Amino acid sequence: MTDSTSNIGLIGLAVMGQNLALNIADHDYKISVYNRTFSKTESFLDKNGKNLPNLSGYENIESFVNSLQSPKKIIIMVQAGRPTDSVIESLVPLLQKGDVIIDGGNAKWTDTIEREKMLKEKNIFFVGSGVSGGEEGARFGPSLMPGGSQEAWNLIKPIWDSISAKVNPDNGKPLEGALPGKPIQGGVPCSAYIGNDGAGHYVKMVHNGIEYGDMQMICEAYHLMSSIVDLTPCEIGDIFNEWNKGELDSFLIEITGDILKQKDPRTDNPFVDIVMDTAGQKGTGKWTSVNALDMGVPAPTVSEAVFARCLSAIKDERTAASKILTGPIVKIKSDNKQVIVSAIRDALYCSKICSYAQGFQLMREAQKEYNWDLNFGEIAKIWRGGCIIRAAFLQKITEAYEKEPTLANLLLDNYFKECLSIYQPNWRKVISLAVESGIPVPTFSSALSYYDSYRSERLPQNLLQAQRDYFGAHTYERTDEERGKFFHLDWLHPNRPEVQV
Ligand code: 6PG
Repeated sequence: MTDSTSNIGLIGLAVMGQNLALNIADHDYKISVYNRTFSKTESFLDKNGKNLPNLSGYENIESFVNSLQSPKKIIIMVQAGRPTDSVIESLVPLLQKGDVIIDGGNAKWTDTIEREKMLKEKNIFFVGSGVSGGEEGARFGPSLMPGGSQEAWNLIKPIWDSISAKVNPDNGKPLEGALPGKPIQGGVPCSAYIGNDGAGHYVKMVHNGIEYGDMQMICEAYHLMSSIVDLTPCEIGDIFNEWNKGELDSFLIEITGDILKQKDPRTDNPFVDIVMDTAGQKGTGKWTSVNALDMGVPAPTVSEAVFARCLSAIKDERTAASKILTGPIVKIKSDNKQVIVSAIRDALYCSKICSYAQGFQLMREAQKEYNWDLNFGEIAKIWRGGCIIRAAFLQKITEAYEKEPTLANLLLDNYFKECLSIYQPNWRKVISLAVESGIPVPTFSSALSYYDSYRSERLPQNLLQAQRDYFGAHTYERTDEERGKFFHLDWLHPNRPEVQV
């Protein structure tokens, strides 16, 4: 049992771990698996072991580690936080110089930085790798975002490249159709080295923040179509299917079409109508927003998406308030349904552009803060397939950064600039309609405010600075002086000359 022949090991046989192990085995790598509860390992092997002779399971962690070739590579797929630390603690005494631990969970990047540092002192490599794509992605090709030392990356690169999703080299479209035992052949891997220590997990976190934004925007489009346009879930599903053939072509739009057309097996009513309107969250969207606030980077659309989930979660309060607070009566626009639906599409696309622009701004700032050298074109490339936010749109972002790697903001790229210019009348119209009808559109409207603020040479914060100076002597700069010179007006004697501070 312990002949040290496996190419890689995996700890943690929950759904993601199981699927990733099968994916690795399908790519002709010998893989050992270990789970704290052995019965889980046994049932996993019972189900899959006969078809995959290169899969082996172990009851104790020592024999699991002994079954691996050196340098040993071990993927941890357990819950982020304390469970990850305790697995690392149990592995450390069993590993040697040059072995690699890879955390494939949704760990907080700051934890990854700490863990990498701690393990480096013990001469053990640590890779924090974002893994996106849910169950299906893990099984047939996820998008992989590894961070750690370049040396560690070189050791896992062949496996990472081969198990990741693949896209068509000509158009960047995901290559689909993988089956058990029949992985995709060829194509460009959706896996690339992201940067030192926590860079991979950071980029995965931003991916998730963007995912929150995308999902909320889609929900707003659905809400508008069902209320103002008075369409049934099934009709809206057809519209999403249609949208999926154009610029909005993406995994999330595709599954939204499927979901809206699904019937509840119990009642035969639209499935979406029986689902409770309270959203859950595991925290990566919140981390993204908190980090944006910490670094002072405007990422309002992601934050609004997080807050929208929070507001949805206070169902009892909302139910009570709905009986007390008033608002406009929704006026159904039935005469020009097509026109409104197409305006909603444009609003969704413009909002999406702004949300991604914010996500990339956040990464640009983070690389300075954490001393990373992120390649935004490469990040957009590996998000084209496998991950939850995969979309035709990512090809446009790839091209934008290929043209101009130091692009200040995605909004300034010609393609996106043009889209925003063409579609913005509809974007504004839809938001006005929503506001008039009392339909909340937090991400659509925050994205538009972001756009309008970003393109404004002058904002009203001149007044704000004056207020700060008035009540707290917080000083202000003058438009007729050089930047960096600060003044204070004695507000008790405002006619006295100001002082430079
Ligand atoms: C992915 C997803 C995944 C995430 C879920 C749930 O890239 O595969 O981002 O990592 O955990 O989408 O996240 P929430 O529970 O926070 O919605």
